Amino acid sequence: MADTQPRLSRRGFLAAGGAALLGVVAGSAGHAAPGPDSVRLGDFWLFGRYEDGATELGFDEIDLAPVQLPHCVTPLSWTGWDPASWQDRWIYRKHFTAATTERHTARFDGVMTNAEVHLNGRLVATHEGGYLPFEVELPDVVAGDNVLAVVVDGRWALDVPPNLPRGDPSVIDFYQPAGIYRPATVGAVPRVQLTDVFARPADVLSPGRSLHLTCTLDAPVAGQVTASVRQAGRELAHGAAPIRGTTVEFAVGGLDGVRLWDVDDPALCEVLVTVQSGKHALDQRVVRTGFRDARFTTEGFFLNGRRLKLFGLNRHQWYPFAGGALPERVQRRDAEILRRELNCTMVRCSHYPQSSAFLDACDELGLLVWEEIPGWGHVGDDAWQRRNLADVEGMVVRDRNHPSIVVWGTRVNEANGSTALYQRTGRLARQLDPSRPTSGALASTTLGRFAGSDVEVLAYNDYTARRGTPFRLRPPRPGVPYLVTETIGTLAGARASRRTDSSSVRQQAELHAKAHDLAAADDRYCGLLAWCAFDYPSGWQRSVDGVKYAGVSDIFRIPKPAAAFYASQVDPAKRAVVEPGFAWDFTDRPSGPGPGAPIWSNCERLLLFLDGRPAGEARSRRAEFPHLPYPPFAADLVVPKGRRPELRIDGYASGRLVVSRRFSGDRGLDVLGCVPDDPELRADGGDATRVVVAALDRYGTLRAGTTGEVRLTLTGPGELVGDPVLDFGATGGAAAVWLRPFAGPPGTLTLTARHAKLGSATATVRLVAGRVATS
Ligand code: GAL
Repeated sequence: MADTQPRLSRRGFLAAGGAALLGVVAGSAGHAAPGPDSVRLGDFWLFGRYEDGATELGFDEIDLAPVQLPHCVTPLSWTGWDPASWQDRWIYRKHFTAATTERHTARFDGVMTNAEVHLNGRLVATHEGGYLPFEVELPDVVAGDNVLAVVVDGRWALDVPPNLPRGDPSVIDFYQPAGIYRPATVGAVPRVQLTDVFARPADVLSPGRSLHLTCTLDAPVAGQVTASVRQAGRELAHGAAPIRGTTVEFAVGGLDGVRLWDVDDPALCEVLVTVQSGKHALDQRVVRTGFRDARFTTEGFFLNGRRLKLFGLNRHQWYPFAGGALPERVQRRDAEILRRELNCTMVRCSHYPQSSAFLDACDELGLLVWEEIPGWGHVGDDAWQRRNLADVEGMVVRDRNHPSIVVWGTRVNEANGSTALYQRTGRLARQLDPSRPTSGALASTTLGRFAGSDVEVLAYNDYTARRGTPFRLRPPRPGVPYLVTETIGTLAGARASRRTDSSSVRQQAELHAKAHDLAAADDRYCGLLAWCAFDYPSGWQRSVDGVKYAGVSDIFRIPKPAAAFYASQVDPAKRAVVEPGFAWDFTDRPSGPGPGAPIWSNCERLLLFLDGRPAGEARSRRAEFPHLPYPPFAADLVVPKGRRPELRIDGYASGRLVVSRRFSGDRGLDVLGCVPDDPELRADGGDATRVVVAALDRYGTLRAGTTGEVRLTLTGPGELVGDPVLDFGATGGAAAVWLRPFAGPPGTLTLTARHAKLGSATATVRLVAGRVATS
């Protein structure tokens, strides 16, 4: 099992200066973070199991371990998670130095599940629910050393969505390990603060477009609020309004020159908002927005007046070894995989608000987002439902400036009933944000009874096609915009689509292609978001040893053949793709993949070669997938027994050779790959990158059938977030770990992987001081 605690002794921590190790960074633009002098609380905290007295100022910290945020309370592997290991109360303590006794606040982006915050031994706030941020006034900060103590309650029975006072964590389909699992900051804030800025573009498609600003202050003050709207470093327009009370509303016009935000050109705007009192700027904040017109209609979805078939997947936020607790760079990487590698135009954040870093990346990449309140299949008592309303408010207020978000899920996933509740949650969302529709994913069982009159978008988790029946989708419901929010999962195909089972993953790819083909066939489908992007931890039905194998990529974010279908749906002028949906491997199938082997490609023709000699042409499967932009091919690849030839596939588009790929049949030439996603990380305690360790043929294609153990050793000032031994037989020839530098001076992390047959490979990551770009 991986040890998620940094391997740093308590003595080493204290010798290194303890609290003085705080790394100073600016608060994340656009969020209600403490001001520019705030301190990111990413580096060392002291952590342990809660005991009486643990929040007191003089608590003996000798038994606590130094940890870095984001943090998960328990060591985890990539499989076999045991909820008992996080279902408890925990204590986190942070010493920080304040220069003054001015007003201070602390902000937590996400603590799973409930939190009590104590400052210098006094309770200052409590928070319920693991998916939304909270900000805490720190009234008694002293100049000098202060102690923030946070009690984290990770028990299931808390009666907070999606948790319930009954059952256990496996009554819902995702595990939620506890911890301060998103960033936290503390800092001095102005006497009068901007607590919120909502920048709402209006009349986007007309030259008279404007930006409506609603700025909220936490106290009235004489003065004005000014706003400067900028794009690509240039001011486009500005405006101002006097402060009366604590809410200041005004519109900025003169924005005819703005570049619209679109999926292929996600042009963002920055709005610099300043609270001015006399000559003084009391507070200032930069929020990002984008001008785009998004409409769900009965004739489909339109972005900026152009029909766009929404093509996407659902995403859970959980990772191996760390639960949700991986830094922002890693969260952003999921958005890159979805947009750049899987060509998705939309993601559903199932089933809770996800990290701000992920949503920021969606804004920057042009990935549309469905965001929803926490919940899964159950609605609790009155107190629980009040928290639904609080979650709607928290979600909409946190995220309404993201141009990528085009719909709010204000219903609990697949809890259809509760009409009275949903009228309230929907109304609240529309009040807080009149610019987006509300919806909520309905379960198949009760769709029949549902009239569809109280939602603006009818969203349906379409599991009509079950195992063994031909794949189909329910026809769109007339009279209401219609979106498929889930399909396939582990219901239409195999119980588990594991890369170790080549026929299951092959079938999974066919189902995803079929589902999108059917959605593309009928303009009334706004689009389809299939279940799901990545395998995830779960103890619910059809999970296998704590993992739900429903992803088109595995839990390490390594693609399976269904990901090749998504990868192939892109203009070949942008990226020519040829991805066999089979293994070119003769260990289990001496005669090769056989007739009709699928190849996922966006080319017009595919020519095949065996050991360099022409071996025919692959057949287009256009007739089976009439509506896909790029249907797959079928190749007859039968090889005489005893031969293991090299396969070459040449892809042509517009009459030109655009891609040529080779696949080796000779396992004797396979190598071990050990490749980091990023060559450079910040040594500030809040950064990490993935390293993929894989068995590769001599041309770099994953050899899924490889077995055997890989042993990993890390040297350098950082933590291996991962198991030190990976079993390729269980993971399908590839897995990943994450490297997390400690806060400290620049240096190098070196990960060495060793496999008995494949030899060894090394990944090197440079550690630099300060901030480096995260995309
Ligand atoms: C759906 C549910 C998803 C997931 C899926 C599994 O009913 O909304 O969260 O559990 O089934 O295939």
